[in-house]
Amino acid sequence: MSLRNKILFTDKISNIRVIKAITQVADSENLKVFAVGGFVRDLILGREKNDLDVLVIGSGVDFAQSVAEKLGITNVNYFKNFGTAHFDYDNMNIEFVGARKESYDRNTRKPIVEDGTFEDDITRRDFTINTLAISLNKSDFGKLIDNCSGFTDIENKLIKTPLDPFKTFDDDPLRIMRAFRFASQLHFNVDESIMIAAKEMRSRLSIVSQERITDEFLKILSSPKPSIGLQLLFDSGVLENVFPEISIMAGVDQRKDYHHKDVFLHTLQVVDNICSETNNVWLRFAALVHDIAKPPTKKFVEGIGWTFHGHEDLGARMMKKIFHRMKLPLHQLEYIQKLVRLHLRPIALAKEEVTDSAIRRFVVDAGEDLEELIILCRADITSKNPIKVEKYLGNYERVMQKVRDVKERDQLRAFQSPVRGEEIMQICNLKPSKKVGEIKTAIEEAILDGKIGNNYDEAYKYLMIIKDQFLEN
Ligand code: CTP
Repeated sequence: MSLRNKILFTDKISNIRVIKAITQVADSENLKVFAVGGFVRDLILGREKNDLDVLVIGSGVDFAQSVAEKLGITNVNYFKNFGTAHFDYDNMNIEFVGARKESYDRNTRKPIVEDGTFEDDITRRDFTINTLAISLNKSDFGKLIDNCSGFTDIENKLIKTPLDPFKTFDDDPLRIMRAFRFASQLHFNVDESIMIAAKEMRSRLSIVSQERITDEFLKILSSPKPSIGLQLLFDSGVLENVFPEISIMAGVDQRKDYHHKDVFLHTLQVVDNICSETNNVWLRFAALVHDIAKPPTKKFVEGIGWTFHGHEDLGARMMKKIFHRMKLPLHQLEYIQKLVRLHLRPIALAKEEVTDSAIRRFVVDAGEDLEELIILCRADITSKNPIKVEKYLGNYERVMQKVRDVKERDQLRAFQSPVRGEEIMQICNLKPSKKVGEIKTAIEEAILDGKIGNNYDEAYKYLMIIKDQFLEN
């Protein structure tokens, strides 16, 4: 480690206010204290980081209390069982931990927290790139301590475990997924030894909580090029454990002269494509699952080849079970289902001479997610032939132009019957009931079919014509 780099770290961290307080308290209490983990890694990589992990050779909880008192902070979270404490200061999340020789109970996953040395603590960490420490004591402030060659591994863009990966993963099997997540976030390679251990140990992920697994999975999806992490999950077999429906999309079937695209590889490309257009992880998730029902709907039809009829509907229906199993936030379910269900619709609308009413239905069905649906459709174009790509993009542009035209005419955005439920009840002398909804829907359908215009007068007249027929039965 050159002197130049050392000075660089000193400069970078000496202006951070909480670090000044940490240094003063550490020296007055005669404790060795370090910045560790992701903070140091990201400092070297030049990535912005608001999380600071502080390692204390002593009690992390007591030390946090002293620093908090010095800064006048009253809002400190203590996790005494884990020997950690946390507070926020100056837009930073600061976590304090005492050095530990930690091992987990193999079955319950409860950590056995035992005091340890600096070396114990550092080598029990997940990856060498996370084992770097910077001293925060005044005497050697800013000094980088690199016991596990983490700096070289950062330079070589390599994810490697400080110990035998079988031991590191046995301590916390989630680290298998973390390896792939860091590879995806940082665009690093994973060491071959990690792949070997991951393949053998993947079933141990069953002792990890679904929330932690899903969190890592979504971090992969949020990374700049998720195909890196997803491909590693697949190659190690871990995808089969954490998201089997995606895993079985891989492979190509050949019959006579017909074969279909490898759905998994196509999906990876769609996900990467969409990532250059959006950071919305749910839109990215929709890209990941848009063809999820291709394997269960796949059929070989003589003379035609491979078909996947109804995969968009089945895919949407599959989502509910998957959301529950993976403990995904249920308020996103409808959005994902909608995008999966509608992802073929724009293609259909581009092909035929479409009627205004087909466009209206599409606008109403997609609602406020229409723009995002089109982003998905554009990302779904994975042809290598530039002429085809241009043609498909042109098709979507034509559909969107039609949408704009119809919208301008109809103002369909917040579409509902111009004659409202209250008025229908008054005119028809009805109490709130299913019938009121049926009449309202009939008016809306007439507008969507183009039988009447989307305005009050025509809707009122139409109500007068149809109401008796509804009231009779
Ligand atoms: N760590 C570990 N094993 C885990 C989780 C965390 O060894 N299963 C260690 C790593 O040294 C890591 C540090 O604890 O650097 C902090 O963990 P975390 O905040 O989850 O990760 P970061 O490395 O800070 O990265 P990020 O904030 O991007 O998740």
